[in-house]
Amino acid sequence: MKKVMAVFGTRPEAIKMCPLINELKTRSGIELVVCVTGQHRKILDDVLKIFGVVPDYDLDSMKDNQSLSSLTSTILERIDKVLDIVLPDLVLVHGDTTSAYSAALACFYKQIPVGHVEAGLRTYNITSPFPEEFNRRGISIIAAYHFAPTECNRDFLIKEGIRGDKIFVTGNTVVDALKYSLSKRKKDFATEDGKTVLLTMHRRENIGEPMISVFKAIRRIVNERKIKFIYPVHPNPAIKKLAFDYLNGDENIILTEPLNLTDFHSLLADCSFVVTDSGGVQEEATALGKRALVIRDHTERTEGIDIGSISLTSCKEETVYHNIKLFLDETPCKASSVYGEGNASIKIADIIEKI
Ligand code: UD1
Ligand code: UDP
Repeated sequence: MKKVMAVFGTRPEAIKMCPLINELKTRSGIELVVCVTGQHRKILDDVLKIFGVVPDYDLDSMKDNQSLSSLTSTILERIDKVLDIVLPDLVLVHGDTTSAYSAALACFYKQIPVGHVEAGLRTYNITSPFPEEFNRRGISIIAAYHFAPTECNRDFLIKEGIRGDKIFVTGNTVVDALKYSLSKRKKDFATEDGKTVLLTMHRRENIGEPMISVFKAIRRIVNERKIKFIYPVHPNPAIKKLAFDYLNGDENIILTEPLNLTDFHSLLADCSFVVTDSGGVQEEATALGKRALVIRDHTERTEGIDIGSISLTSCKEETVYHNIKLFLDETPCKASSVYGEGNASIKIADIIEKI
């Protein structure tokens, strides 16, 4: 029996790891252990509930506004003890978060093999996204197995000197999650005139002036056009404050708590387009045939740019204002499977069984 431990701690990791966890649970040769770091709390637990995943270990590491150093050291210290108890043959981490990087580092110190899900995404700009580009590259150095969503991601890893037989192109498990959650769809967010724009913003590098400029551009647009924005606000207290300071009080801007995954995916499927700085939302929008105006200078998801679902914009007020107006008048794009076909979890589980 192979003992596989999955470690993750934030909302996006949970969304992309739960389909794989549920697939691994069906494999008779694998004993699965789930450890959450608790880097996020409510928005992590909400995802676990949707997928019916119950963690075996919870490192409970979230503190309000905690620094990256404090978070990293808490996870490192707490996961060390869990690794000693579980003694896994393989640890799976996902993506680019501090949870993923810290778990991989702890495994490296104990020489436990790491499998990296969603490997090989790159901007090659170490501060954008920050600190995620560093985290993801750091995990690539440590990992024994690299599950790359796309051929482009594989090419980056090969260029960095990683052995080709350790890289597996599988698609992104986000598409598996999207299919699963939409199969449970309950709400319809479609409006008669179809002019609802979804907004999400949470990146560390956008907190402060960049976010304020975007919010000002949005206020100008809702004053001029018959259009509604829905913004599920990230629980980060610094973001909540800016969102309520700059966007509250306009009937065409709806500020909500984070939506549960099924409602969020339903809204994304029904909206006109999305304005976002999220990573996962870029992939989901592309899979659903929605355009995404991405408020970032760089993206590690360039496939969407190539097929026309994603456009980058600087966060200057005038540029955002202009780009949103362009999006309002442009035709939608087609759904694309460039990020996967919804079977990435099966492919990854097959590979894990064999290695
Ligand atoms: C983290 C990830 C980022 C990912 C994002 C997804 C890192 C460095 N960043 O960023 O890559 O895109 O998650 O959302 O790993 N909070 C709550 N309740 C929650 C979650 C967060 O109150 O359920 C608040 C806490 O005050 C916390 C703060 O939000 O300190 C920031 O959370 P944190 O995990 O440090 O960073 P994110 O910006 O969410
Ligand atoms: N999401 C959600 N509810 C929300 C906002 C986002 O369930 O109110 C989901 C969304 O479908 C996507 C993921 O959260 O899968 C993206 O998370 P986030 O933007 O926080 O992180 P990133 O992908 O940028 O790391």
